[in-house]
Amino acid sequence: MPVINVHDKKFSPFLSEQEIQQQIKKIAAAINEDYAGMRPMFIAILNGSFMFAADLFKYLTIDAEICFIKLASYKGTTSSGQMFTAIGLDVDLIGKDVIIIEDIVDTGRTLNEFLPKLMHQQPASLKIAALLHKPDAVKFPIRVDYLGFSIPNKFVVGYGLDYDGLGRNLREIYQLV
Ligand code: XMP
Ligand code: MG
Repeated sequence: MPVINVHDKKFSPFLSEQEIQQQIKKIAAAINEDYAGMRPMFIAILNGSFMFAADLFKYLTIDAEICFIKLASYKGTTSSGQMFTAIGLDVDLIGKDVIIIEDIVDTGRTLNEFLPKLMHQQPASLKIAALLHKPDAVKFPIRVDYLGFSIPNKFVVGYGLDYDGLGRNLREIYQLV
């Protein structure tokens, strides 16, 4: 695969379509086993996770529900200076086994803000499935229960992830050169 341009920047191939699908199958197999006989509720965080969520969901053999939310950030008074409000979280999570689907955990700030809000809804359990994690970027440690890849602290695009709106349609993941 060649180096590609997205807007004004160059990206080189990093994870192939096959590697991505292989890891997602492994995550699905683990979830199928861990949640056998249960009916988890997946919450996919848009926009970036739409492809990962769709592929992961296709490999599930257990009964499962899914909903899609968007986290809108606004200026708040927390230490991070950002707070999130969840748009589309219209399902009742009381007593449900919830699995968050995220494209990437970078600093951990997003989930650090969002998870306590979800816990208010009193789910029976709460786990995180993330395709990518940048351990070197972590500022707010998040326990990722199901992880596709630990990656270096470099900006990536493709497979749902964008650089300024573009690159989401790529089947592979590319790294900023
Ligand atoms: P935090 O820092 O809150 O970041 O864990 C999570 C969100 O930031 C976006 N993000 C990226 N998007 N390439 C992208 O296209 C990246 O390398 C990248 N790193 C973080 C993403 O929306 C993620 O949900
Ligand atoms: Mg995202």
